[in-house]
Amino acid sequence: MTAPLLEVEGVERRFGGVRALAGASFTVGGDGIVGLIGPNGAGKTTLFDTIAGRQVPDAGRIRLSGQDVTRWPPQRRAALGLQRTFQECRVMPGWTLRENLLFAARPRGLAGALAAAFTRRDRLPGWAPARAEALLRLATLEAYADAPASVLSFGQRRMVEIAAALMTRPRWLLLDEPAAGINPGLLDALSRFLRAAHEEGGGLFLIVEHNMEFIMGLAARIVVMHGGAVLEDGAPEVVRASPRVVEAYLG
Ligand SMILES: Nc1ncnc2c1ncn2[C@@H]1O[C@H](COP(=O)(O)OP(=O)(O)OP(=O)(O)O)[C@@H](O)[C@H]1O
Ligand SMILES: [Mg+2]
Repeated sequence: MTAPLLEVEGVERRFGGVRALAGASFTVGGDGIVGLIGPNGAGKTTLFDTIAGRQVPDAGRIRLSGQDVTRWPPQRRAALGLQRTFQECRVMPGWTLRENLLFAARPRGLAGALAAAFTRRDRLPGWAPARAEALLRLATLEAYADAPASVLSFGQRRMVEIAAALMTRPRWLLLDEPAAGINPGLLDALSRFLRAAHEEGGGLFLIVEHNMEFIMGLAARIVVMHGGAVLEDGAPEVVRASPRVVEAYLG
């Protein structure tokens, strides 16, 4: 399998008069945990949307392992091995944790959607139940496997959402503010889970985060966005000491 290369090249996106992305460029080659930080409105979520296919950029290119996917729909990118979570948590509260995870393993596309419309368990791949168990253990949530997600804390639900995204062993995993709104007591558990999941399955984890302590402790590399473009890119200690990052964001 080739390395999970991600290339973002000169990506631009306008919303009316707002230039959400103004020529964002960076490349991440291979496995690793990379942080994407920057002030509110810097364009982080919009960039995620263009990488995942929810938005088509006005200009620029997105490549996954050398393939130009700029105009591919999200499903096709998912089939290549890209998964994401959203800034707002998307777990089904009435379903058990196991059901939430198994649902993420269902076949995609029209056939999958039709099957899912009739029964959540239909046409599940054979590997799915064991994978769900393994991920719940990694998240230390196995005791809740058959409980509805609604009994969990917000932070635990976040972990279920991430576990669901990990079901298909993504090569690119985009997480939008996984630590936002989480009880500080759970941040360590979330961090350990992400580290363990990365060790177990590899891949490129790209994580948008405002919690500096959390992301600097987790990521080996940090890309800083400001005004729709990349302001700085380097190891956490380099970024933390960068005068322009301090001025635009950390200061
Ligand atoms: N669908 C949209 N329609 C209009 N403007 C938008 C839309 N999506 C984003 N924007 C604008 O584009 C800019 C970048 O937004 P984006 O959500 O990408 O920022 P962000 O870095 O994710 O911010 P935050 O840290 O607050 O989540 C902002 O000015 C935002 O208001
Ligand atoms: Mg955002």
